[in-house]
Amino acid sequence: MKVKLTTLKDWTGNARVCFLFESDRVPLGVPGPEGTGLVAQCSAQNFKGQPKKAVLLSCDGKSFILAGLGKRKDYEPDKLRAASARAAKLAEDKGIESLGLTVPDNKDVKGDLSLFAASGLEGALLGSYRFDKYKTPKDDDPRPVKELTLVFANTKNLSDKMKQAVEEAEARCEAVSFARDLANEPSVAKPPEKIAEIATGLAAKGRIAVKTMHKSDLEKLGMNGILAVGAGSRNPPCLVHLTYTPAKSKKTLCYVGKGITFDSGGISIKPAQGMEAMKDDMAGAASVLGLFKYLSSIDLPVTVHGLVPLAENMPGGGAQRPGDVIRHYGGKTSEVISTDAEGRLILADALAFGSELKPDLIVDIATLTGACVVALGDEYSALLGTSQPAIDRIAKLGLEQGEFFWQLPLPDRYKSHIKSTIADMKNTGKPMNAGTISAGLFLKEFVAEGQAWVHIDIAGPSFTKEGWDYAPVGATGVPLRTLIALCHSY
Ligand code: BES
Ligand code: MN
Ligand code: ZN
Repeated sequence: MKVKLTTLKDWTGNARVCFLFESDRVPLGVPGPEGTGLVAQCSAQNFKGQPKKAVLLSCDGKSFILAGLGKRKDYEPDKLRAASARAAKLAEDKGIESLGLTVPDNKDVKGDLSLFAASGLEGALLGSYRFDKYKTPKDDDPRPVKELTLVFANTKNLSDKMKQAVEEAEARCEAVSFARDLANEPSVAKPPEKIAEIATGLAAKGRIAVKTMHKSDLEKLGMNGILAVGAGSRNPPCLVHLTYTPAKSKKTLCYVGKGITFDSGGISIKPAQGMEAMKDDMAGAASVLGLFKYLSSIDLPVTVHGLVPLAENMPGGGAQRPGDVIRHYGGKTSEVISTDAEGRLILADALAFGSELKPDLIVDIATLTGACVVALGDEYSALLGTSQPAIDRIAKLGLEQGEFFWQLPLPDRYKSHIKSTIADMKNTGKPMNAGTISAGLFLKEFVAEGQAWVHIDIAGPSFTKEGWDYAPVGATGVPLRTLIALCHSY
């Protein structure tokens, strides 16, 4: 979808979206008789500005889509993202090719106008995402909206700050689509080395460097967690290291993303039911690569490392076995109780490697435990870690993005859960007992003493079975927009 900015005077599209608060007399940005006329027409369709509802109307030969924002006092940008997605969906259903999105004048809406414009754009773009490359096109397929124009009241509102906010929102959506595409892709088409190739495509001279440690490099380095998990697959594992270097750097951040391109469970094989969802077990990696996609077009004053350990967890003849012991990068050992607790085994190597970079903060992102879905459901990610300020910061930024986080404790008193009789630790905790926490405690062992670190378990929100307001069924891209916001926050 092409994105443009213009003023009402110059706009020439097919239909214009306007937002309406419940019990307001006029939609935002449509004052006077035109606005009251539109609202009067709505009553026939029983529309009063309810959230998640949109209607198509015409007035003086012009087409409008009115989208409900709910109660004015409950307003937050995420309501606008949802309303805008609903409006774009209606436009698509009605075959509208060129859609306008009304950005009201400053006085009509509380809060920053550039946040309003960015959120409206984000809802429409993210909500219109489709993964349809494997579907044979049909004549009666809905035609996606071709052009989306933000329509401003006047040129004064089209400030440089506004243009920058819109540019960032568009880049954010492109990054999310990129991450969703990666996670939605069937595993047959995304073996570890293929994802490394895609990552290499993000390299940009003097800006983003990408280095892949192939299987032979991992052997030399002693990255035996990644090697052990990848050993049962014909597709060799690897580790990708991306580095974004800005002209001026205030902080150094390191993001580590779990990249299991398919999680069969390995020898501790999973039940067949629902196993297809395990193509998404690299959603953490996808979010890190999405972040670098964003950094390829937006300048930020932070150095960013991305570490993406990639392996396919399969039960082939070379597979690791329950009972095996791994010596991880850095020397610590783990006893493999379940080959299905593989995420922590590859993250262990990557976290030990990331610690050597001595960043101001390490954040790892992983579809790590089914227990997390039991604890927090499918819309909340868990936060655990060693830096309370960083945890608080991520939770707060997430709320602004419409991505939800909840902290779980990481208490030393549960370290007994991962005690092994023959190695430094074992890779599972107590059965039916704080599974997300014991996974976090395992990871913590590989983070250098004193290093600020946050672990994000995205097992729930990395994909949606039912679809959300502005995320269709499938991979959601969570928590990429929060990772981007975190980079911006330093
Ligand atoms: N990738 C899974 C976790 C998962 C489950 C993600 C459901 C998304 C949805 C992970 O590798 C796994 O299998 N974890 C095991 C750990 C257990 C063996 C200690 C689990 O959660 O059952
Ligand atoms: Mn697993
Ligand atoms: Zn897994």
